[in-house]
Amino acid sequence: MKQIAIVGATGAVGQQMIKDLEEFLNVPPENLRLFASPRSVGSKLLYRNTELTVEAYSADAFSSIDYVLMSAGSGFSKKHADEILAAGATIIDNSSAWRMDDRYPLVVPEVNGHLLKELSAATVIANPNCSTIQMVMALKPIQEKFGLKMVNVSTYQSVSGSGQKGIAALDQQVKQHYKIDDQTSEIDYAQIAFNVVPAIDTLQDDGWCFEEIKMIKETHKILGDDKIQVMATTARVPSFYCHCESVSLQLEKPSTASEIEECLSSFKDLVVYPQHHYEKFPDPISVRGSHKTHVARVRTMYGRESSDWIQFWIVADNLKKGAATNAVQILEKLIS
Ligand SMILES: NC(=O)c1ccc[n+]([C@@H]2O[C@H](COP(=O)([O-])OP(=O)(O)OC[C@H]3O[C@@H](n4cnc5c(N)ncnc54)[C@H](OP(=O)(O)O)[C@@H]3O)[C@@H](O)[C@H]2O)c1
Repeated sequence: MKQIAIVGATGAVGQQMIKDLEEFLNVPPENLRLFASPRSVGSKLLYRNTELTVEAYSADAFSSIDYVLMSAGSGFSKKHADEILAAGATIIDNSSAWRMDDRYPLVVPEVNGHLLKELSAATVIANPNCSTIQMVMALKPIQEKFGLKMVNVSTYQSVSGSGQKGIAALDQQVKQHYKIDDQTSEIDYAQIAFNVVPAIDTLQDDGWCFEEIKMIKETHKILGDDKIQVMATTARVPSFYCHCESVSLQLEKPSTASEIEECLSSFKDLVVYPQHHYEKFPDPISVRGSHKTHVARVRTMYGRESSDWIQFWIVADNLKKGAATNAVQILEKLIS
């Protein structure tokens, strides 16, 4: 069995990786090592009923590691990737550090997993942004069958998309609002409780925020077509887990809603809710913990049975398919 490390094991994504390694690969505890920042060194995390001790990062430790699930932010990835590669380990990186680097593939296994077959040992495989992964899962089968001219997406992204500090901020702001806990400490985070924040990540001089640029550029790279016009507006909403997206597509060939639903249903790990499934549409509460991507409310242009414009709703758990599960699925393919 290969030796695996998680760097950033105490984070929102890292903790989900620990669960997903058990769920999907059942790696023995002795084959897994956990790393985090100096403040977490010595703390214990449970894996398959075994307490594993969190270690401090040191390049020397990686000579005995085959695969690294890296989830400690882009600064850490940029600083340490070369020394980990030099030690002989392959990195599956969750940060934005290497996604647009031409040397490395940006992979969603169901969409472009064939790229993993062409790799030599000790390289980087970039895991896409959470909001990109769930969108390209739905775009890929449509691109193949109907062709894609344009994508316009608006996102409704949960606070866990910004890690443990986002989860803590929403929790504390709600408690402070209702005076449940006057002792909560200050946390550096925009007002998110009872609010919607209409830009995610750093705002660029041209008016786009970095989350939107990630969605545009990563979609081009993963779908292998930079002629598809992509517009995106990314917003943070006060839910803890799962990202929702409202997506409009312009197709090369017109389609009916039923044809789109049928096309989506044939794609692995897409759950499609038929147009008339009024009882329950997917939402953050119902999708939490699912490793699949949920698509609902497929519609054509209002009043037309068939049109080249299609609209639908996507929900996925950003910590599962949007991050940890996608990385573990990449690892599964590499090992097999
Ligand atoms: N959250 C999501 O939905 C999501 C989705 C896709 C991609 N990502 C990306 O995944 C990465 C992790 O995100 P997250 O949400 O899990 O963040 P997080 O909850 O803030 O966790 C960050 C992790 O990195 C560790 N870390 C920080 N500095 C370190 C250092 N110098 N050495 C070793 N470990 C260090 C932290 O350890 P301590 O606990 O000890 O501080 C923690 O384990 C980010 O690059 C993020 O952009 C996140």
